[in-house]
Amino acid sequence: MERIWIEELDKHDGQKVKVAGWVFNKRSGGKIKFLLLRDGSGVCQAILSKFDVDEETFEKHKDISLEASIVIEGIVKKEEKAAGGFEILIENLEVIGKSENYPIGKKEHGVEFLLDKRHLWLRSTKQRAIMKIRHEIIKASRDFLNNLGFINVDSPIFTPSACEGTTTLFEVDYFDEKAYLSQSGQLYNEASVMAHGRVYCFGPVFRAEKSKTRRHLTEFWQIEPEIAFIDFDQNMQLIEEMTLYILKKVIENRENELNILERDVEFLKNIKGPFPRISYTEAIEILKEKGHEIEWGGDFGAPDETVLTEMFKTPIFVHRFPAKIKAFYMKNDPENEELALGVDMLAPEGYGEIVGGGIREENLEILKKKLKEHNLPLESFQWFLDLREYGTVPHGGFGMGIERTVSWICGINHVREAIPFPRTIYRLIP
Ligand code: 4AD
Ligand code: MG
Repeated sequence: MERIWIEELDKHDGQKVKVAGWVFNKRSGGKIKFLLLRDGSGVCQAILSKFDVDEETFEKHKDISLEASIVIEGIVKKEEKAAGGFEILIENLEVIGKSENYPIGKKEHGVEFLLDKRHLWLRSTKQRAIMKIRHEIIKASRDFLNNLGFINVDSPIFTPSACEGTTTLFEVDYFDEKAYLSQSGQLYNEASVMAHGRVYCFGPVFRAEKSKTRRHLTEFWQIEPEIAFIDFDQNMQLIEEMTLYILKKVIENRENELNILERDVEFLKNIKGPFPRISYTEAIEILKEKGHEIEWGGDFGAPDETVLTEMFKTPIFVHRFPAKIKAFYMKNDPENEELALGVDMLAPEGYGEIVGGGIREENLEILKKKLKEHNLPLESFQWFLDLREYGTVPHGGFGMGIERTVSWICGINHVREAIPFPRTIYRLIP
């Protein structure tokens, strides 16, 4: 008999089926014993009755503990009260893998313990809900871009140079040379966009972040669109539309998971465009009025972002930063050369930056000058300069951090739960 998924049980009411998975809970009631089984697609209650199976099968219940893997065959019965709405009356039961003394129980565990056991923790209800929402966010962001006609062209991970500044580069031995793990796919996107007009890359990026905050990982994922002939406002518009599309899809397809996480779904449902657009200079004024110690020219800290985002019930854009605090590739604002055409999107409820992007410098001479100002070696950027030599065009784009987006949408308080296996300054295992 072929195995079916638990989510398909409704198509098999009254029939005999085979289901396989892990034991999520068990209960004993004398002549009737209950198992709660999960297989990834759902959970269902399975009933082992002394009257329906032989002694040997009935006794197997004793050996089954939390997270043991089993295969059962039995008859499907509609049961409103059971989780999932169906139960299975077991006829045959086979234990595939025992699971004695499963380390994660119903009691509260400390987060470090759970992170040490991340390979098992991923099976728990909340963690499964987070990963499903992560999947939905990734799928929605790709679908959004694919539907618009974007081409997915990925960027390399081994690179010869920095994209987002030299202080957070991971250096690796590359035969007789040094290579650096990519901090962003953007520079290669800028080559690909000259071939396709609209591209995006999706992949892991690496930053040697020594920060121990709730928003920093050393390995995280970005989706990075890049568009030829786009202007600054159009770029913000695209970020906004992509964000709204992601929210719509998560609410449509994963409301159940949001509820498991006790997320305020109404808050997410009420988010509509247009998102407020505040200039960096205005943001500094707001912060100073609220008593923050920040001067024009300084970068926002987490508390600054928190205060700005708590003023609104939607994400907000902060735009036109001092050129001095932004990356070498950013184009200066033609109306004020001290400013860069960069934009961050900050998520509400105190979450802060989840998107960074802007317009790129397309002029060869200015870009060379900027590379020098940032003390970056011209040799390793020669290929990048070629893009300005041969048919340069105005272009721009952005990068959305997947884990920060997942954290915000799920309403969890640390990015380490937004990725299957988090990498931070103190954690490389499992
Ligand atoms: O703002 P960032 O540094 O922008 C770039 O990398 C651009 N090159 C993207 C582009 O224009 N193509 O990073 C983009 C996003 C941030 O807004 C944040 O969401 C996330 O990446 N991010 C991190 N997420 C987790 N841990 C970290 N250490 C992160 N650093 C950035
Ligand atoms: Mg940024």
